[in-house]
Amino acid sequence: MKTAHVNARRFPLWVTGCLFLLGGCQNATDTVPESVLAGEAIFTGTCKVCHAQGINGAPIAGNAKMWAPRAAQGKATLLQHAIQGFGMMPAKGGNDTLQESDLSAAIDYMLYQGKLLDTALAADAPAP
Ligand code: HEC
Repeated sequence: MKTAHVNARRFPLWVTGCLFLLGGCQNATDTVPESVLAGEAIFTGTCKVCHAQGINGAPIAGNAKMWAPRAAQGKATLLQHAIQGFGMMPAKGGNDTLQESDLSAAIDYMLYQGKLLDTALAADAPAP
């Protein structure tokens, strides 16, 4: 449960239940954070069209090399860019119906695919 504290308060128990069910498809030793599970549907519905193939230079989900410099900016900055738009990245991925929490979850999903979610969250944390 290393990263499960992330956004845990925002997600009701049923999400945890889904996590448990989906756990069968994942590496059993690797607990997937709730936000990552919630983000998959958002990713598939809105972000995938660009972030699966790298349209217009969009960093490809799961490509750690493409995501590393972006993760280093910190999750908060990535979220801000997703909300406002960034270069060729349209605001909210062009889907105005998405809430900040949806965007946050979709970003977590993409970062997690490249094993960079912890890196991005750590970059946000104030220096000890
Ligand atoms: C129409 C294509 C398109 C869609 C749809 C899209 N993106 Fe992007 N996204 C891009 C492109 C292109 C970039 C690279 C922008 C750049 O670096 O100039 C990008 C970059 C990003 C970045 C990195 C920003 C940074 O600071 O480096 C994040 C985070 C992101 N997108 C999140 C999302 C999320 C979340 C969604 C779905 C809700 C989404 N994108 C949907 C095209 C898209």
